[in-house]
Amino acid sequence: MKKNIFLSRIIPNAGMCKLKRSEFKVDIHYKETPLSPEQLRKRISDVHGLICLLDDTIDKELIDAAPHLEVISNMAVGYNNIDIEYARSKGIAVCNTPGILTQSTAELAWALLFAIARRIPESDNFMREGKFTGWQPLLMLGGDISGQTLGVIGTGRIGTAFAMMSKGFNMRVIYSGKTNPELDRELGAENVEFETLLRESDFISLHIPLRENNRHLIGKKAFDLMKPTAYLINTARGPVVDEAELIKALKAKRIAGAALDVYEDEPRLKEGLTELDNVVLTPHTGSATVPVRNRLAVMAVDNCLNILRGEHCENRIV
Ligand code: GLV
Repeated sequence: MKKNIFLSRIIPNAGMCKLKRSEFKVDIHYKETPLSPEQLRKRISDVHGLICLLDDTIDKELIDAAPHLEVISNMAVGYNNIDIEYARSKGIAVCNTPGILTQSTAELAWALLFAIARRIPESDNFMREGKFTGWQPLLMLGGDISGQTLGVIGTGRIGTAFAMMSKGFNMRVIYSGKTNPELDRELGAENVEFETLLRESDFISLHIPLRENNRHLIGKKAFDLMKPTAYLINTARGPVVDEAELIKALKAKRIAGAALDVYEDEPRLKEGLTELDNVVLTPHTGSATVPVRNRLAVMAVDNCLNILRGEHCENRIV
């Protein structure tokens, strides 16, 4: 009997075609929006392979609803949406898609940094609204970038790529956490205490995975330590930032601005966020380039196929 695979969303064609051409029986939720947990539980009751997205919650209840499940393949590098310990206890493999989105996510973090520091979305709106009446000495003044201090929280693949892209802007690069010899060597970066990073950075960019111990890592205490001229950039995971405290800090001009690609309760935005001028918002698009998403889709499919075929899968987390 053929094994079954369920794909929880439409993904780029390269991945869908590969999946459909495989020897397995395939069921696809042909929508761009997620299934509710209840709908997902129903659809996976007899599946062996599940290919899911970062906004599908793969918890105990869902895993228990799929007694034949052998592999959960997440089309994302982050896997905070999956109860990996429970999957491990059930002998279910979990895979992710690392590496491919490193540069695109680092590039988006830079795009956000420029956008907030140089007020690009605000300026664009200003132009479209026909408000430009001529050059003015005080129009759309922002923050400097070159020569400033760049604070990187999390120097794994994406954080390292992000920091390396600062070459050319003559910035002082500081980071907290584990020593990163590449950044020390290439940029003369300094590994500093977390509080020092908060106090001294002009830009703070987050690149850590979401874990229970770093939920709300950036909250009131952090905003109080940051410079009033500092900017926060988050392309990692929303709950790392206490969004209610961020809104208070932005309103009170405790910090200069924030640029966010991820949110505490996606896709919902906290009340008040969209009313602020000193914030730039993008819809969780760190990996959203055509080539990257194609490659992510193929990798997620390959991970699932490899496990079901009993072959080696290098992106297996458990
Ligand atoms: C995107 O956020 C990912 O984890 O791949």
